[in-house]
Amino acid sequence: MTLKFTKKLTTALAAVAVAALGASAAYSQMAPFGGEEDVSFASELWAAMENADLAGPNQIRAALSIGNDPHGMLLETFYTKVEVGGREGFISVKRNYGPPGTDPEDIYNDPDAFLGAITVMFQREEGYDEDNQNWFWVKYLPDGSLDKNPAGVALAGKVAKGMDVGCIACHSAAPGGDYLFTGSMPDAM
Ligand code: HEC
Repeated sequence: MTLKFTKKLTTALAAVAVAALGASAAYSQMAPFGGEEDVSFASELWAAMENADLAGPNQIRAALSIGNDPHGMLLETFYTKVEVGGREGFISVKRNYGPPGTDPEDIYNDPDAFLGAITVMFQREEGYDEDNQNWFWVKYLPDGSLDKNPAGVALAGKVAKGMDVGCIACHSAAPGGDYLFTGSMPDAM
């Protein structure tokens, strides 16, 4: 009797554990950003940026412009197209230099030493995120790894869809309705 009960209990516990695993897998698929697919897409995107000389040792340079919170105090911004997984899409890359309070002269002289992060918007295929014009949002650290939010979730994907703050919430206020503050997508692209 006792044995039978223990067996039953073990089976019941195992079932709960399986259900919990299933739920957490489903949750990570549902989470709008930082999931496995987001992280692997972000690493393909970084490789595409390196190929296009938007990142890495041969990266092209642009004039620095003055930026605002939450991006750097000095910025370098690019608009172009890159190919990821055989599909070409529009990309905006922003290199963020700082921290605030740094002498701009120091940044001009040695930008790499003051690069804090690289924030990127890449327009993915139709159906990826129709509510927000299919933008994929990502924040890289200078070595190409992903920055994380305080909860340890990688900042890649639909960041932070449905929340009042974050990439999507703030960029949805950009003029022109294309989520871009400093420019718009060239018609020819
Ligand atoms: C609180 C508002 C805010 C948040 C949050 C924000 N941005 Fe921005 N972003 C801006 C502003 C404003 C600009 C224009 C440049 C500037 O003044 O800093 C900009 C510029 C950019 C650009 C260059 C294209 C453009 O729109 O001009 C990219 C790429 C970008 N942000 C990516 C991101 C990503 C990725 C995140 C999230 C990890 C993010 N941003 C979060 C406000 C925000």
